[in-house]
Amino acid sequence: MNEALRTALPTPSPAALAPQLSVVVPTFNERDNVVTLFERLKTTLAGLSWEVVFVDDNSPDDTWQVVRDLAQQDPRIRCLRRIGRRGLSGACIEGILASSAPYVAVMDADLQHDETQLPKMLGLLRSGEAELVVGSRYIEGGSADSFNRQRRGVSEFATLIAKRLLRVAIADPMSGFFMVRRDRFEQIAPQLSVHGFKILLDIVATARGSLRTVEVPFKFGSRLAGESKLDSMVALDFLGLILAKLTGDAVSLRFLLFALVGSVGLFVHLLTLDVAFNVFDVPFTEAHVLGAVVAMTSNFLLNNFLTYRDQRLKGFAILSGLLVFYLVCSVGLLANVGVAFSVYDQRPIWWLAGAAGALMGVVWNYAMSGVFVWRKR
Ligand code: GDD
Ligand code: MN
Repeated sequence: MNEALRTALPTPSPAALAPQLSVVVPTFNERDNVVTLFERLKTTLAGLSWEVVFVDDNSPDDTWQVVRDLAQQDPRIRCLRRIGRRGLSGACIEGILASSAPYVAVMDADLQHDETQLPKMLGLLRSGEAELVVGSRYIEGGSADSFNRQRRGVSEFATLIAKRLLRVAIADPMSGFFMVRRDRFEQIAPQLSVHGFKILLDIVATARGSLRTVEVPFKFGSRLAGESKLDSMVALDFLGLILAKLTGDAVSLRFLLFALVGSVGLFVHLLTLDVAFNVFDVPFTEAHVLGAVVAMTSNFLLNNFLTYRDQRLKGFAILSGLLVFYLVCSVGLLANVGVAFSVYDQRPIWWLAGAAGALMGVVWNYAMSGVFVWRKR
């Protein structure tokens, strides 16, 4: 472009170019869906100023690479590639906070959400009629026909629990498709949980009815390519969210699970001791030590599978994690015995001293495991 022409053309002000709507799309192994989704967004949102932020948790299928290549051709696309982290809610929260548009939508990448509803949702926010618009499967005009019977049952049951326990008034708090005013979201963002799947439920429960909400029906479609990441373990995440919201974040599901695993460990310990001592005639001290090692190992594996499933150690890290876990638990045992002794010293009540020691042990093990074994990388 020559200089004369450059000055002749009116340059749009940067503000006029800023997006009005950010669409946040969490992705994990969605390489075959993102291009199609972007094409559909272009069609639906033609004439609006918008952007799309893909938040990818370092997908093994290199979804982030596909998004980057797309972004080279269109500045409306951005990619947030997160390393060492997993989780739908956390991804959505980060994506929303990484954008600046006054209105933000969240939708899945797999084309199960109906993007043609977006302009209508935006209209409701812009007119001030709503501060949060929910894409709903469970109101007149919506549907979830692509669900099998089992999945439908689980979804309906969870919805019922959420509505009762958290006093959530909307028909489909489990939906993953919604649009919200940025300023309202920013207000409640610090209270949201980054764990689990249920970001909308969390938003609605945290806002305690203060968000003017409108539901828009849509038909939950079938996944185009790839597979769902929802497994039976998300029930645990759901439980954790309910617990956290009911107790004002005082009780963490992670700690409860850790303590539960610990009590299973006690059982494993006694069982091993019994078998080694009574069946195989191993001397008591050796049998007791063996029981402790077996219990620590099974505790480690259970915690890795259940308590820290979102940060699960794999491959070689399992071995080094296990060794550190042994160390943490050994020190925990010293702390346990130390506390029990000093309590007993002051008040010789056996169960009080024992319980204080055990509590000290589990709190120590929990805190130190979080720092040294399943640390956030
Ligand atoms: N970044 C990131 N990290 N994205 C993820 C993760 C993750 O750990 N897990 C899933 N996703 C992305 C998927 O790539 C997809 O774009 C979207 O989140 C939804 O995941 P699906 O695996 O397709 O979930 P679904 O279809 O079984 O569940 C959907 O429907 C539920 C309602 O029944 C989701 O919208 C749920 O939020 C919703 O509750
Ligand atoms: Mn899906």
